[in-house]
Amino acid sequence: MTKLEQKAGAEKVGVVIVGHVDHGKSTLIGRLLNDTDSLMDGKLKEVQESCKRRNVPFEWSFLLDAFQAERDQAVTIDTTQIWFKSQKRPYVIIDAPGHREFLKNMISGAAFADAAILVVDAAEGVREQTKRHAYILHLLGLKQVVVAINKMDAVAYDEKRFNEVKAEITAYLSGIDVTPRQIIPIAAREGDNIAKKSDKMPWYKGASLLEQLDAFSPAAPPVEKPLRFPVQDVYRFDERRIIVGRIAAGVLRKGDTLVFSPSSRSAKVVSIEKWNAAHDILSAQAGESVGITLDQPIYAARGDVASHADKAPMLTHDFRANIFWLGKEPLRAGKRYKIKLATSEATVMVRSIDRVIDTGDLQRTEKDFVGVNEMAMVTFHSRETVALDPFADNHETGRAVIIENQDVVGGGIINMEGLADLRQQRQAAQENLHAVDHLLTRQDRALRNGHRGMVVWLTGLSGAGKSTLAMRVERALHIKGMQTYVLDGDNVRRGLNADLGFSAEDRSENIRRIGEVAALMADAGLIVITAFISPFIVDRRAARAAVKDGFHEVYVKADLSTCEKRDPKGLYKKARSGEIAEFTGITSPYEPPEAPEIVVDTSARGIDECVGVIVEHVLENARATTLETRDETRAER
Ligand code: ADX
Repeated sequence: MTKLEQKAGAEKVGVVIVGHVDHGKSTLIGRLLNDTDSLMDGKLKEVQESCKRRNVPFEWSFLLDAFQAERDQAVTIDTTQIWFKSQKRPYVIIDAPGHREFLKNMISGAAFADAAILVVDAAEGVREQTKRHAYILHLLGLKQVVVAINKMDAVAYDEKRFNEVKAEITAYLSGIDVTPRQIIPIAAREGDNIAKKSDKMPWYKGASLLEQLDAFSPAAPPVEKPLRFPVQDVYRFDERRIIVGRIAAGVLRKGDTLVFSPSSRSAKVVSIEKWNAAHDILSAQAGESVGITLDQPIYAARGDVASHADKAPMLTHDFRANIFWLGKEPLRAGKRYKIKLATSEATVMVRSIDRVIDTGDLQRTEKDFVGVNEMAMVTFHSRETVALDPFADNHETGRAVIIENQDVVGGGIINMEGLADLRQQRQAAQENLHAVDHLLTRQDRALRNGHRGMVVWLTGLSGAGKSTLAMRVERALHIKGMQTYVLDGDNVRRGLNADLGFSAEDRSENIRRIGEVAALMADAGLIVITAFISPFIVDRRAARAAVKDGFHEVYVKADLSTCEKRDPKGLYKKARSGEIAEFTGITSPYEPPEAPEIVVDTSARGIDECVGVIVEHVLENARATTLETRDETRAER
């Protein structure tokens, strides 16, 4: 770390330097480093001497190369930053070694710029990449832009030539709504108008480049905006689960009720945790990285966005983005890509290419593909529900990075004009739902059946014996004249839940649906026996809540080695050989119940004994002897 990086006090400003290739970006950086005295001692001399030895003319950009070589050796966390300082404050240059890297950094937010210098060669004037880069500045909404018309030495510091190029770039920028704060004639190689005003261009009355940079301000973190807390990770410490992330916008307070999107589950913030915090933290705001704990163990994972309920992000399957394309293979309608939105990832399909924009003349064309380096407006469809914001509302949750085969192939900003927000639709639908009263009660049905409806929820590892027990218990109860039904994982997953896999999220949804179905069946008067691994405490708790009373949890216990030895379906073997991913007990966790109504240990006891224990429990709790009389039931209603 250099002196500069340690320098406290003034807030740094991130600057990105863009422009056509060979218009002098690297020379400008070398010069900025030198003229602000930001190089390591002796570096300039060293580079100059090495040039002499190799018999090549010295170039300012060599300083940058030396800087980079040094940087490559040092093991630093962030490899894209170069620092310099003015009298006023430190700057970090977001290095753009190549066009692709620059675009990748800009769009992924890996390097966020507060301001941009657009470099234009005085002799060559505005070129293709000048326009493309300017267009991206416009796309990203970067407002603090200064244009540096470079290589004035090559045009004899001619004011007329400067004015021509100035008119050319101004015309283009006004077409894309970018207003440069200043257009400065510079000669990076000579140091004219970089850190101090040049006496070679007395006709220029404006500020030097450094003065203009000093007039910019660091982009304030969006504290005023609605809260957006994209979840980076969830850490477990015993019973505590800490949800960590960086607050992208707004303020998060202890006691707030947060909604996690896209699941829309909510819970209250019990505590805000920070590394080495000495005191209880009451709030944290945009830009801060924090951990939070919640009052309920809701399922939250990387990719979720926490917000307040009244100003939550949009939920959708369809979104439109203004993208630029870097992929060698063109983007085409119907193709699938992976998309990153804040910390989440989704698989999307290109629904339509709405238009392709030629950044040269800003004309729109109708095409059915987007080629490398082209900009376009594209509509995507995602199978999963995604949470996002229009870029205009929030830069971090409104930006998408497009991935193909692990490589960034494009990026874009989201525009939801004319597209629906599922959250609003769902809320409207909920508001228009009115529970209809049944004329028959649970008790009416219980009297007819001679027993109550209830749910016997078996949970345990695969191979613990859940299905076998469920079927045997059902038969025993049936023989005793009871109305029963078994819901079994392998069966339900072929129909109702055929769309679900074994990710933690899908398992949760699996159990949520089963919980609701079991609740309906129990309400209808049946004794429902469920046989699902249901590995997560949270999900079983939610099922219990859905059923209300009459939920009986049975822990079908058998240690992993026993289950693996039994391996009735040969799945453990496959899981061990890597053929099945996320297999419970092997590569996916199982959380045993904390307080089950019954525990049956199938590795210690015979099957009949286990069946007996469960049947006895059911009979005790479901029998008509425990029923209220019909009159009492009526009075209750
Ligand atoms: S749960 O975790 O979502 O509750 P569920 O009980 O529905 O699981 O389904 C478990 C059954 O699916 C197992 O008995 C096994 O036959 C099959 N299965 C296939 N892949 C997996 C896996 N990765 N993990 C666990 N079970 C799996």
